[in-house]
Amino acid sequence: MGLLALLGMEAWILGSFICYVLPSLFLLLVVLLRLYGEGSNIWSLQSCAVDLTGKTAVVTGANSGIGKAVSCELARRGARVVLACRRLTEGQKAVADIQKTTGSKELLLRELNLSSMASIQSFSQKLLQEEPHIHLLVNNAGVAGMPCILTSEGLELTFMTNYLGHFLLTNLLLKGLLGAGSARVVNVSSYRHKYGFVNEQHLVGAGDPLRKYQNYDCSKLLLILFTEELAQRLQGTGVTVNSVEPGIVKTEIMKNCIWLYRSIFWLLSVFFKTPEQGAVPVLYLSFAEELDGISGKYFNSKCNLTLPSEPARDLEVAHSLWNTSARLTNLEKITERE
Ligand SMILES: NC(=O)c1ccc[n+]([C@@H]2O[C@H](COP(=O)([O-])OP(=O)(O)OC[C@H]3O[C@@H](n4cnc5c(N)ncnc54)[C@H](OP(=O)(O)O)[C@@H]3O)[C@@H](O)[C@H]2O)c1
Repeated sequence: MGLLALLGMEAWILGSFICYVLPSLFLLLVVLLRLYGEGSNIWSLQSCAVDLTGKTAVVTGANSGIGKAVSCELARRGARVVLACRRLTEGQKAVADIQKTTGSKELLLRELNLSSMASIQSFSQKLLQEEPHIHLLVNNAGVAGMPCILTSEGLELTFMTNYLGHFLLTNLLLKGLLGAGSARVVNVSSYRHKYGFVNEQHLVGAGDPLRKYQNYDCSKLLLILFTEELAQRLQGTGVTVNSVEPGIVKTEIMKNCIWLYRSIFWLLSVFFKTPEQGAVPVLYLSFAEELDGISGKYFNSKCNLTLPSEPARDLEVAHSLWNTSARLTNLEKITERE
């Protein structure tokens, strides 16, 4: 065989490898990872027969991503779902989609901006009049990729949205949760809490300097500490509270990050969970019967009860954080007035 023919054959083999074999291997890897993501939970959503007819659930940040997928499954199981959204136009689209998928007539869209104490108060007041019994509160809304900036009420935006807003909301809805007899609160945290640390001054935009986007990591850590302190305070009331990390999920969560981070997230997103898969651990905490009575715990993205990072387990810090949060949100004054 001539040299040219040999070279031609090698080029053909190399070409076929690049054009067919590599893409096929890549696709296979994606499919396997997706299947792994679906099948790796210790709990099966499909095999869980819990019916939620007659129950009222509130989901924050319900217009997209994990919150929308959670709302959809709750509605499918018969719950009356309050979609608490910052942007009503986006909320309306989510309601229409969920209605189309589930046929539910029990969807309520309400405006809630978690970065505003005034909005949280107004939302809670109106909601308790409409829905005196709340069986489930999913504190899901979150923001990432924001610089450290203050809200008009003097609180750091990311800490306010991800942690302090949910602290205030949960406390203001407590009457409804306690009134339900038995209720659950689910706090959507993140594995990123491991990269955060606690400094209460961060809540007002001061304190030790933070690396880029570390305000997200720290806020998710505070959410876990809040879960533990709240669980202690609610012992024996019938209301339980747990926190969960959904895993890495292809959603809008990176929309405020710089283009480089957004591009990397987008490129890698074929390996990530879908919002429906990311919703599974949140749904597990929301209604799985085996979690009845379990409170103050942290679950990973495979629905395993697990320990969060060491700083997230410091009960003294959790107690101090509660007091600071109550002071910053004027909790006592607000609850006295209501
Ligand atoms: N995706 C992941 O890989 C991942 C990993 C770990 C944890 N999480 C957590 O999962 C939760 C859901 O996020 P996602 O991934 O589903 O992202 P997403 O699609 O961006 O959803 C976030 C939701 O939060 C809402 N939100 C943001 N700021 C708000 C505010 N000030 N008031 C009320 N709502 C507000 C957003 O509303 P707008 O549409 O109006 O912005 C949106 O509905 C977040 O807490 C996130 O930190 C996500």
